[in-house]
Amino acid sequence: MRSKPAQRIFRETAIKAAKAGGKVLRNFFAKEIRIEFKGEVNLVTEADRAAEAVVIRTLRKPFPNHRFLAEEGGAQDAAGSAGSVHKWIIDPLDGTTNFAHSYPTFCVSIGLEIRGEIALGVVYDPLREEMFLAEKGQGATLNGRPIHVSKTEKLNAGLLVTGFAYDVRDDLTNNLDHFANVSLRAQGVRRTGSAALDLCYVACGRFDGFWEMKLSPWDTAAAFLIATEAGAAVTDFNNRPYTIYLKEILATNGKIHSEMVEILGLAKRTGR
Ligand code: IPD
Ligand code: CA
Ligand code: CA
Repeated sequence: MRSKPAQRIFRETAIKAAKAGGKVLRNFFAKEIRIEFKGEVNLVTEADRAAEAVVIRTLRKPFPNHRFLAEEGGAQDAAGSAGSVHKWIIDPLDGTTNFAHSYPTFCVSIGLEIRGEIALGVVYDPLREEMFLAEKGQGATLNGRPIHVSKTEKLNAGLLVTGFAYDVRDDLTNNLDHFANVSLRAQGVRRTGSAALDLCYVACGRFDGFWEMKLSPWDTAAAFLIATEAGAAVTDFNNRPYTIYLKEILATNGKIHSEMVEILGLAKRTGR
């Protein structure tokens, strides 16, 4: 059991860090920024690094001995943190390609894993000022108000969302088959460019379902908990329980889950 005061400090610090990271992103947004290439289509900008630095600084102040896993590698675990059961998992800018093109959809994502289980998740969209938050067993909120998944009963009436990994050009397991299969059966399919926001939008009913392959722990650590606490079913493509260290994720409102499992199995069964 975690004590209530400890929970409160974790929550308040995570919110503070997400807002600080979001402020950095807002200040860099739609301005000329330095962009480097991690791969042919995989970017990192000075905004990613600056946001990561401020998020880690904010979290590390009260929790110097916690462990950190952050996408841009800006967090070295402190000496003495090796035995810590607390791990902060951070994507300082989820939606980097959007950001680099001044497309206004991106967020800061911060999850706290305690003894291997996600206990707290915060996802902050600094342009819309939307703060999604969940604590294990406590439900999920958007700007302090409880959120829930949609009630859509059938995939035919559902709005789905997905994304593609940066190796889309190089690996045939690139989700284009699933994209075609779901597009032919759902009311609509979107690709927003921010997996963390996609999951939060499932959590608050804007989307009925989300799937993606090859995501990393920092993409889903916070939003997986937010979606689960809002009532989402979250599994791999074979309907097995999801963990943030798996490569496949399917998150839906529950009602369309078996239809989605069936469709995501089509490519394997029929080769298309
Ligand atoms: C990416 C986004 C995108 C998803 C990619 C991720 P990044 O994260 O979440 O929606 O399709 O797979 O890598 O690079 O913008 O932090
Ligand atoms: Ca990401
Ligand atoms: Ca990122």
